Amino acid sequence: MSDILRAEGVCRDFGGLRAVSDVTMTVHSGDIFGIIGPNGAGKTTFFNLCSGIYKLTEGRVFLCDKEITNLRPEVISRLGLSRTFQSTQLFQFMSVLENVKIGCHAATKSRLVDVILHTKTYREDEEYTTQKALETLQRVGLSQYADTMAGNLPYGIQRRVEIARSLATDPKILLLDEPAAGMNRLETDALQDFLKQLNADGQTILLIEHDMKFVMNSCNQIMVLNFGRKICEGSPQKVSSDSEVQTAYFGKGGINHAQN
Ligand SMILES: Nc1ncnc2c1ncn2[C@@H]1O[C@H](COP(=O)(O)OP(=O)(O)OP(=O)(O)O)[C@@H](O)[C@H]1O
Ligand SMILES: [Mg+2]
Repeated sequence: MSDILRAEGVCRDFGGLRAVSDVTMTVHSGDIFGIIGPNGAGKTTFFNLCSGIYKLTEGRVFLCDKEITNLRPEVISRLGLSRTFQSTQLFQFMSVLENVKIGCHAATKSRLVDVILHTKTYREDEEYTTQKALETLQRVGLSQYADTMAGNLPYGIQRRVEIARSLATDPKILLLDEPAAGMNRLETDALQDFLKQLNADGQTILLIEHDMKFVMNSCNQIMVLNFGRKICEGSPQKVSSDSEVQTAYFGKGGINHAQN
């Protein structure tokens, strides 16, 4: 089980607020690793630190043993860390295929001049991105939507197209920020099956999610953040029975009901 993503003592301050405080964790190859915690716990900030969107105040991040601390987002993406965002980021008036092609551009060489002059490099890149996007849509079972305008699709499918766009770079690890947010139960269950299938095909996944049933049923390892600090980490069973987690996050009622 090799390390895919490792955070060591990661901290991030916003003015006087320490949004992420001394977080150390490792995602291993083959994990579906979940991050949970109350609103404002620092989950998205932690993603932003790993993916290069925010600079770390302290600490280090490694991707497959290569240090990626404070590298630019596009460099980190090229090295194999791909992510989706908490709110939908699709281009609503573009087709699904065009949206997924955007995810492939990290691997292309065309510059603006190539695009304007339709150079050989541009034509080769176009062929590559179209092929790669079609393959990815096929892989995730969304081929039938290739020509559909993204904005015309049900919300649950749109979120899956976003995942497809991130997968088009063949990432070593896929980071998903609240992939089930705004989905109904049917869409959430379909997403769960979809992620489990991706994982069974070898994709390592790190996800943030508030839907406890989803997290408990999907993840093999869970980290709980509260006020920027890690308060617990372990299997779903361990996390759901931890008294500090119960009090800080779930309230006194517990979360055993969420495992049904
Ligand atoms: N760019 C920023 N500038 C200032 N403060 C920020 C910034 N980004 C996040 N914060 C603060 O850092 C803390 C953690 O926010 P973050 O978005 O990481 O929480 P979260 O766990 O993802 O919450 P949610 O579950 O609501 O998405 C919050 O107090 C938030 O207001
Ligand atoms: Mg968030």
